[in-house]
Amino acid sequence: MHHFDRIDGALHAEGVPLEALAAAVGTPVYVYSSATLTRHYGLLREAADAHRGALGDALIAFAVKANSNLSVLATLARLGCGADTVSEGEIRRALKAGIPADRIVFSGVGKTDAELAFAIDVGVRQINIESAVELDRLIVVAAGTGASPEIAIRVNPDVGAGGHAKITTGGAADKFGVPVADAPALYARAAASPHVTPVGLACHIGSQITTLEPLEAAFRALKRMTLDLRAQGLTVSRLDLGGGLGVPYHGQSDLPSIADYVAMAAGVLDGLEVEAAFEPGRLLAANAGILLSRVIQINKRGDGRRFAVLDAGMNDLMRPALYDAFHDLVPVRAREGEPVAYDLVGPICESTDIFARDRRSPPLQAGDLVAFMGAGAYGAVLASEYNSRPLVPEVLVDGDQWAVVRARPSYDEMFEREPTAAWL
Ligand code: LLP
Repeated sequence: MHHFDRIDGALHAEGVPLEALAAAVGTPVYVYSSATLTRHYGLLREAADAHRGALGDALIAFAVKANSNLSVLATLARLGCGADTVSEGEIRRALKAGIPADRIVFSGVGKTDAELAFAIDVGVRQINIESAVELDRLIVVAAGTGASPEIAIRVNPDVGAGGHAKITTGGAADKFGVPVADAPALYARAAASPHVTPVGLACHIGSQITTLEPLEAAFRALKRMTLDLRAQGLTVSRLDLGGGLGVPYHGQSDLPSIADYVAMAAGVLDGLEVEAAFEPGRLLAANAGILLSRVIQINKRGDGRRFAVLDAGMNDLMRPALYDAFHDLVPVRAREGEPVAYDLVGPICESTDIFARDRRSPPLQAGDLVAFMGAGAYGAVLASEYNSRPLVPEVLVDGDQWAVVRARPSYDEMFEREPTAAWL
């Protein structure tokens, strides 16, 4: 569900015509819908609140890595959303956007001592520990501050899942989390230290997961461990269930709903008396964003192959090149005529700069505006200036109003960041 619809034949973001936005800001540009972000957060909040008995006062911590734009975060912050962060930069963004420290979880497989000290200093809610060696480092860092930060041990339940091998994180061979077998001893070690306060367990098994079974298996593993730890006299009061629920990039209607997902989690956790946390990234943001681009030219080859060359490249939207990801392409103003098969490509000098092969679309012409749908998560955050293309800008829409929430840098601004070495 999203708020990019046709009005009088032209695609709009809520009440704003994308043609007008393109004229004002240029292309390529990411456009986000506040209404979609709000709706998705609201559905999750409502579902979690409906299962308060099983999930406690559940935290919804948006995975900032999915979309770290400050105005996107501020939109979610106003709704009461927390943040799942993986770097000092993300913690700083969350705080700057108005997310209180006590709703910020600090995860990540390689937190530096400086980042751990920063997280303790600002008082994040919880630090998710991913390895024994990281726990040891945190104990040393925390001892130096006199604080005893609350931590969760991220376990690797050996349930790999996800839409692509490159976004699976919960398999035994993945670098994330502590093996289930090692977790109890680590938890006990943490409990014995005056410098950290273990409060619970965490897991995150992968991303773009389209069935509930692997998630349920992981949550059941957390439940078993909770009972085992409690049997040893240890306190476990929080379970961080990670993110990972998939979204319908292909318009699928058979994906688990937010309500089903939360009900499943509540079913597993019922009676445990823990406070749950969810860390959705894609679920909240993917369908809240599009990448608006313009067709530079249609290159029709002698063999009949048609390349639609767009002004967006893989530097602006990496997901197809990186994960063979599918993003629907919708002409902002559809032309009459039979659908035509295009290879949708960008202008970058790499053969991976291809969004789709043989994609059937209404006929396209040079100058047409097109929108890649479902681009609000892991879109702009993965963008780069490869080929010296200015970093793609971002626009946030709310009803009839819109604002540039990250400006396209000028060439001078790009070059100012690279002072010429004094000896040159
Ligand atoms: N929590 C942790 C600890 C994570 O590592 C992630 C994502 C999330 C939550 C949020 O997962 P989500 O709800 O968005 O599935 N760039 C890839 C996705 C990488 C996901 C990394 N971790 C893509 O574009 O598909």
